[in-house]
Amino acid sequence: MMHLLQVSDLSKAEIEVLIARALDFKQAKTYPTYPHISVINVFYEKSTRTHLSFALAQQNLGCKTLDLNPERSAEGKGEAMLDTLSTVHAMGVQIAVMRHAEDDIFDKILPQVPSTLSLINAGSGKRAHPTQALLDMMTIIELGLKPKDIKIAVVGDVLHSRVAHSFSTICSTMGVGELVFAAPEVWLPASMPYGQVTSEVKSALQDADIVMTLRVQKERMVDARHQGLDAYCITEDALNLASPNVHVLHPGPMNRGIEIDSAVADGPKSCILEQVTNGVYMRMAVLEHLIKASHAASA
Ligand code: CP
Repeated sequence: MMHLLQVSDLSKAEIEVLIARALDFKQAKTYPTYPHISVINVFYEKSTRTHLSFALAQQNLGCKTLDLNPERSAEGKGEAMLDTLSTVHAMGVQIAVMRHAEDDIFDKILPQVPSTLSLINAGSGKRAHPTQALLDMMTIIELGLKPKDIKIAVVGDVLHSRVAHSFSTICSTMGVGELVFAAPEVWLPASMPYGQVTSEVKSALQDADIVMTLRVQKERMVDARHQGLDAYCITEDALNLASPNVHVLHPGPMNRGIEIDSAVADGPKSCILEQVTNGVYMRMAVLEHLIKASHAASA
């Protein structure tokens, strides 16, 4: 794998290797270092978790790490994105971590990106967020749960969520027993790559082992029907429908009191900050995997 652009780029065996490596990194006191590797982070959309955890992952692995703020770069003077990527590659950058608002941005640019520059999708439009799906599945596996034996309920704004789409794909690859996406009709796509879709949140939550809540994507909502639909907020009462051993995930950032109540977000069943922690280790595993794959391809 030279790039990581979507979860479907990965086989089940590759996902298991990445999760095992990330869990190894989490236990380790020291890490291998790759000081000859330069990585640039280019975020065209806002980010806290993904951006900073990639930066930390790069530093933990001893890489040279650069940040390009598109608002302050030469793109503001009209330079094309592909010229920017070719320019940083000419400086010696081997990996670009990129977030962008367009669903198909990587499909568009990939044919013209320098062949020895690896790309990592740090979130594209409403379509894909592969490293988030990997860290979410890592968190589930770390809890000691076997994907084939569990029910997962994903509740919230499924329609606008790149996290939901990548999570659906990773659940398919990993053979999750039961996956249900629950949202008001206005937030429900007709179907997902894997899992049922329903507006019946109570039946979705029933006996769930994992409840993942999704952020209400205010910035992508253009229709007044999207307002005032907070009946799908996960409260302690709603969580009582799930398994007594339920664990709660949220990719972040959270809108407290909208899709998740603070008592749940901060409660004993919440794994939300563990997801953030795991994000650093999973991104180290992804970076190392790409570094080794590129080295093997050039040998
Ligand atoms: N989960 C996630 O992508 O968060 P950020 O937008 O803060 O990176």
